[in-house]
Amino acid sequence: YDYDLLVVGSANADLVIGVERRPAAGETVLGGDLAVHPGGKGANQAVAAARLGARTALLARVGDDAYGRLLLDSQRAAGVDTVGMLVGGAPTGVALITVDPSGDNSIVVSPGANGRLTPVDVRAAGCLFHTSRVVSAQLEIPLETVEEVVRQLPPEARFVLNPSPPRPLPTAVLAACDPLIVNEHEAKVILGEAAVSITSDDPEDWVRLLLAKGPRSVVVTLGAEGALVASSKEVARIPSVPVTAVDTTGAGDSFTAALAWKLGTGASLTEAAAYAARVGAAAVTRRGAQESFPTAEEVESLCCAQPGDNPR
Ligand code: RIB
Ligand code: NA
Repeated sequence: YDYDLLVVGSANADLVIGVERRPAAGETVLGGDLAVHPGGKGANQAVAAARLGARTALLARVGDDAYGRLLLDSQRAAGVDTVGMLVGGAPTGVALITVDPSGDNSIVVSPGANGRLTPVDVRAAGCLFHTSRVVSAQLEIPLETVEEVVRQLPPEARFVLNPSPPRPLPTAVLAACDPLIVNEHEAKVILGEAAVSITSDDPEDWVRLLLAKGPRSVVVTLGAEGALVASSKEVARIPSVPVTAVDTTGAGDSFTAALAWKLGTGASLTEAAAYAARVGAAAVTRRGAQESFPTAEEVESLCCAQPGDNPR
């Protein structure tokens, strides 16, 4: 294999403003200075994996503009192979992000060129699929493009999907996921009608219903509660790694990328998710998305810090 991970997805310029609180409809609030960071769920996943040491390629589309160049540069700087990065068709995608004092964010995305990443682009990149161990995707690109990704998967390649932002998924896409990675909100959208039958707040109920939708395995991320992983072989709870959140932007992308890469190295779903939880925890302790992703060494040092240790 040439690549441990092929990421198919979005690349956005993140325009970030820190706020004390978000404005209500019709209201104006003053925030901090504007920061522009390379982002987008696909581009973030690729950088996160490369920083951990994975041989990574990104299939994405950016505009022929300054933000597009920012995104190409950040991929190259992280060591991602940009042979699959296409340029033109629309302006680079933009994410308008506010971050509040607790580190939580709200995001509005203008897909721009991401919306022009087509099934034809996927077919033209066929050789990338045959030389990659694991393929991952998200939903900031057209759904028919993700459907084509699933059709292009060689039988031995593993497919990992984070359906974000969520929408109902075709059966063929669900059946290819190994795993499907969702938070509670995404789980509800994917389950649709079936979510109504959940009466307890036991996440194991969700996992069971999600598995019944056809994916080979499922990971439900539960924030401070950690994560739940399930396949026909195992069901396990992964504890969260306690850290102080500064900016959660992109932490989920680093979790998915780390998990996808580890699975490709032969780790079990439980092992891969435990490692991914440490990567995601490291990412929330720093500002921005891609800039906040840890190297493999940084993940090791984080895992040695015990809860209760006094960081000075
Ligand atoms: O998941 C975080 C990402 O979501 C941001 O980088 C932003 O671009 C949006 O796509
Ligand atoms: Na971060």
